[in-house]
Amino acid sequence: MRGCKANDWPSESPGLRPVGEKGRPDGAARPGRRESPRRDSWRAGQTLTVPAEALRVLLVGSGRMGSAMLRGWLGQSITDPAAITVVEPDEDRRNQAGSAHGVPVSPVVPAAWSGDAVVFAVKPQILDQVLPAYRSHCAASCAVSIAAGKDLRTLAHGVGDTVPIVRAMPNLPASVGQGVSVAVPNDHVDAGIRERASQLLGAVGAVHWIEDETLMDAVTALSGSGPAYVFLLTEAMAKAGERAGLPSGLSRSLARETVAGAAALMAATDDDPAQLRADVTSPGGTTEAALRVLMDDERWASRVDRAVAAAAARSRELAAVRED
Ligand SMILES: NC(=O)c1ccc[n+]([C@@H]2O[C@H](COP(=O)([O-])OP(=O)(O)OC[C@H]3O[C@@H](n4cnc5c(N)ncnc54)[C@H](OP(=O)(O)O)[C@@H]3O)[C@@H](O)[C@H]2O)c1
Repeated sequence: MRGCKANDWPSESPGLRPVGEKGRPDGAARPGRRESPRRDSWRAGQTLTVPAEALRVLLVGSGRMGSAMLRGWLGQSITDPAAITVVEPDEDRRNQAGSAHGVPVSPVVPAAWSGDAVVFAVKPQILDQVLPAYRSHCAASCAVSIAAGKDLRTLAHGVGDTVPIVRAMPNLPASVGQGVSVAVPNDHVDAGIRERASQLLGAVGAVHWIEDETLMDAVTALSGSGPAYVFLLTEAMAKAGERAGLPSGLSRSLARETVAGAAALMAATDDDPAQLRADVTSPGGTTEAALRVLMDDERWASRVDRAVAAAAARSRELAAVRED
């Protein structure tokens, strides 16, 4: 067992703003959201005992995605609250992590930390400023970044050229443990670190590894932005239901529950979506009548193609701007 006094840390470090001006609680439980088991609050100054086998993680940023990962790590018991340290300047979010999850928190970069992984979950716009303060922390562990559009070269520039780095792209359903992440390693990532990153990312959904970083723009366009495409389809279905005579509330519920149910069905089977579609399409039936309209002259498919291509192009543009 290791002892760790998590907030014995120096004052302000580069890249950190003064704390607590913003008053945004981290949100109460939403229906369907998986909560980690209730734990005792962590109190400032409290020394926690870290189980020797626990994965020790420094989480930088506890906003939407960082807090989702934190919930996943604890909910899946892949580590222990005492083994996680959260750095977060926003007082409400910091208190939320400390009180709801019992993890040590700090508004500033911990001076002395040693562990297994530093996970960066801050906005891409500030990442360059934040990274250098964590050089020594990453040197003896590894860095995992989920910042959109920040490539391995930029990350290495920030934390050090010899640091094992995993760049990952999760998506929004991670907040309910149903996300999908695509991860790409740099040359210093060995099998052990890959496994560690898989555990951390896998706590909030599926994980796919790629070796070619240039695919990240297409990944962003498909799984990163993809949830919005499904929300758009749901909106369109709800409006169409209303126009077909359903009361608005009923139509919206039916659209939402139909999309959620179809997604759950897809997740529960290995059948291809095309096969599932064929299974519900009886010759001469209602579904066939609708699909004939939707699939008429390929406009539907080509519009999806163009949408994904536009998102990938925008991802490349944003990455180029961030490189400037
Ligand atoms: N949300 C998504 O669906 C999604 C999907 C894929 C990838 N991502 C990536 O995930 C990252 C986080 O996104 P998000 O949506 O979770 O953003 P977010 O909700 O704004 O969370 C970022 C958190 O980091 C805090 N922060 C700011 N400066 C910091 C510092 N120096 N040290 C530690 N924490 C700091 C922010 O505090 P303040 O608010 O006070 O600045 C905020 O609480 C981004 O890089 C994004 O590209 C997000």
